[in-house]
Amino acid sequence: MNKYNRIFNFAAGPAMLPEEVLETAKNELMNYKNSGMSVMEISHRSSLFNDIITEAENNLRKLLNVPNNYKILFLQGGASTQFSTVPLHLLKTKAAYINSGHWSSRAIIDAKVFGDVDIVASSENDKFSYIPDCSNLNLSGYDYLYYCDNNTIYGTKFKEVPDSKGIPLVCDMSSCILSEVIDVSKYGIIFAGAQKNIGPAGVTIVIIREDLINNCREYTPNILKYKIHSDKNSLYNTPPTYTIYMCGLVFKYLLNNGGIEEQEKRNLEKAKYLYDYLDNSLFYKTLAEKNSRSIMNVVFTTGNKELDLLFVEEAKEYGLENLKGHKVLGGLRASIYNAMPLEGVIRLVDFMKTFEERHHV
Ligand SMILES: Cc1ncc(COP(=O)(O)O)c(C=O)c1O
Repeated sequence: MNKYNRIFNFAAGPAMLPEEVLETAKNELMNYKNSGMSVMEISHRSSLFNDIITEAENNLRKLLNVPNNYKILFLQGGASTQFSTVPLHLLKTKAAYINSGHWSSRAIIDAKVFGDVDIVASSENDKFSYIPDCSNLNLSGYDYLYYCDNNTIYGTKFKEVPDSKGIPLVCDMSSCILSEVIDVSKYGIIFAGAQKNIGPAGVTIVIIREDLINNCREYTPNILKYKIHSDKNSLYNTPPTYTIYMCGLVFKYLLNNGGIEEQEKRNLEKAKYLYDYLDNSLFYKTLAEKNSRSIMNVVFTTGNKELDLLFVEEAKEYGLENLKGHKVLGGLRASIYNAMPLEGVIRLVDFMKTFEERHHV
């Protein structure tokens, strides 16, 4: 076993963090930069914290090559709060939503509170097992197009950025941000909860084009106004200081380890290893259509509820945790975010082979 008896955590989020990041946090826990305090204890108005948030923002800008006309905000309330904040700012007449799973369905419900919402593409007819065709959507008259890039529960992922035909494109990237190279300039707003690829739970990153910041509805609560957070550099109210510090450590770690290009390469390698095994097995079935597969969340099943449960239990004894599928879909799910090493996926496949040998009839 390793130094800390750590297991491989396949949870969909909160998820694994790079060990090197946890080591740094541990070493700096009691006395951050000779302040005599932990980061948890320093004021969000101090110059020490100002350095932490500024460096985190600059490093995220570098990692994703964020253009100068975009602001990066560190907000609270989870990705779910953005389901309302987005329409409060952008929905004037009617909005176009792509429904590719649970989280876009939730965003649609919340947007409908504020005006007309049309579902312009959907894969609900087949239990969200695929990504709907979005190559030529009719978007005339819509204020914006919304989609969720990686469907954490159904294990599907857009392979192409939908063409928003000139209207702002809004994307929930909660479960794929920093996993692959993206072109930020194609988007009006990108948002993502931190707890999968960015850091611990508690902060939501919003990357927003400057011209979209200002136009919220009059009755928008101040705490939800992008403009206020932007003007105050995400310090309008007390931010989750320790979470932002941890996110900053992850950004630094990624920059020091080849950036997003390298991370994408590693992620593709891990996903290929697991899908290749699944595709060659007569025992396990994958649930997402092949050309819609996520490289972050791999969903599969033995086809037998009891066996799936036994799989989860026995995997735990093997040092592989949180492999149970989401309750809305059932089955099994291996979330293999950035911080999951290839070694963890190899161990999972080793376990899957022995489980198959023991239970395949
Ligand atoms: C794609 C996606 N969007 C939104 C959410 C909701 O995030 P939060 O719990 O931060 O509100 C999740 C949570 O897992 C998610 O996977």
